[in-house]
Amino acid sequence: MAEAIVELRGVSKRFRERRAVVDLDLEVPYGSCFGILGPNGAGKTTTLRMIYGAADPTSGEIRVFGTDVRVDPRAVRARLGVTLQDNVLIEEISPVDNLRIFGRYHLLREPELGRRIDELLDFLELRSHADVPVEALSGGFQRRLSIAMSLMNRPELLILDEPTTGLDPAVRLALWGRVRELRAAGTTVLLTTHYMDEAQRLCDEVAIMAEGRVVARGAPRALITAHLAREAVEIDCAPAEEVALLDGIEVAARLRVDARLMLYVHDATSVVERVHERDEAEARALVVRPADLEDVFLATTGTRLGETG
Ligand SMILES: Nc1ncnc2c1ncn2[C@@H]1O[C@H](COP(=O)(O)OP(=O)(O)OP(=O)(O)O)[C@@H](O)[C@H]1O
Ligand SMILES: [Mg+2]
Repeated sequence: MAEAIVELRGVSKRFRERRAVVDLDLEVPYGSCFGILGPNGAGKTTTLRMIYGAADPTSGEIRVFGTDVRVDPRAVRARLGVTLQDNVLIEEISPVDNLRIFGRYHLLREPELGRRIDELLDFLELRSHADVPVEALSGGFQRRLSIAMSLMNRPELLILDEPTTGLDPAVRLALWGRVRELRAAGTTVLLTTHYMDEAQRLCDEVAIMAEGRVVARGAPRALITAHLAREAVEIDCAPAEEVALLDGIEVAARLRVDARLMLYVHDATSVVERVHERDEAEARALVVRPADLEDVFLATTGTRLGETG
C-alpha cells in the first residue's frame, strides 16, 4: 500500500491564461487530518476538485488510494466523501429524503439504508429537523446535512471544502468533535479552511497555498517555530519609529499591518521592558500572546488585500 492516500506530482491547472494551480506536489498520509489553507483564489477548491475527479489537471499526475483518478473515477468516488464549498441539496424535500436519495445513489438498500440515515441524523444532531424541508433550515443545519451526505458511504477519505464557514461557534466546536471522532476511527480527512484556529486544532499537517503554489507546509506548531518564533508582541508603531524603539533588541521576524507592528520573539521580556521603560504600554496598545498559525499565514501569504487572487 502506498504511504499517501492522496498524491499529487507536478499538478497544474489552467483556466485560459489564469494559472489556478502551478506545479503542485502534495502527499496526504493515510489516517491524517490534512488542511489546505490560503487566501481567496489561492487554488484550494481547484485542487480538491482535481483530487475527487471533478476537474482534470492540465498537466501532472494525481493518485488517490494509489490509483489514477481518471482511470476509474467511479471506483475512487465510491470510497470517498465530499462536502463542497457550496451546499448541494434538494431544497424542497427534507433532510431524511435528501439522505435517502443520496444513499440510493451509493446503492444502499433497506434496511441498511434506514439504519445509516438514523446514524447520520444522530451523528450530526439533525434529528429535530429531520422532516422539515431543507429550504426552511438555517445555514448551520444545511451545512450539517451536507456533511452527513458526504459520510453516507462510510468514506475512507473525507474531503471538506470550508466545512465550518458561516457557522456559529457552538456548531463549529461540535463539528470539530465529529471530525476528530472520524479521524480516530481511521478516516483520512482533507479539508480547507479560512479559520486558522480550526486548522491548528484539527490538522496534523497543513499546506499553505498562495497563487496556486504551496508556500509552506508542515505541522502547525512546527510551522510557527520554523517561520516565526514562540511569542508575538503587538504594538502600535509608525514605520519611522521602529528602528529607534527596537534598537538592540533581537527579533526573529516582524510583520506590519498599517500602524500595527507584530514582532516574533523567543522571549518577549526585552521588548516589553523597553515599551514599559518609555511608559508607552497603553499608548502603543501592547499585547503579548503566543504566536499562532494566523501569523504564519500572514507571513507567508502577505498582509495586503489584492496581493493574491
Ligand atoms: N471554472 C473556472 N473557470 C475559470 N477560472 C476558475 C474556475 N475555477 C476557478 N477559477 C480560478 O482559479 C483560481 C483559484 O480558484 P479556487 O476556487 O481554487 O480558489 P480557492 O483557494 O478555493 O478560493 P476561496 O478561498 O475563495 O474559496 C481563481 O483565480 C479562480 O478565479
Ligand atoms: Mg474555495
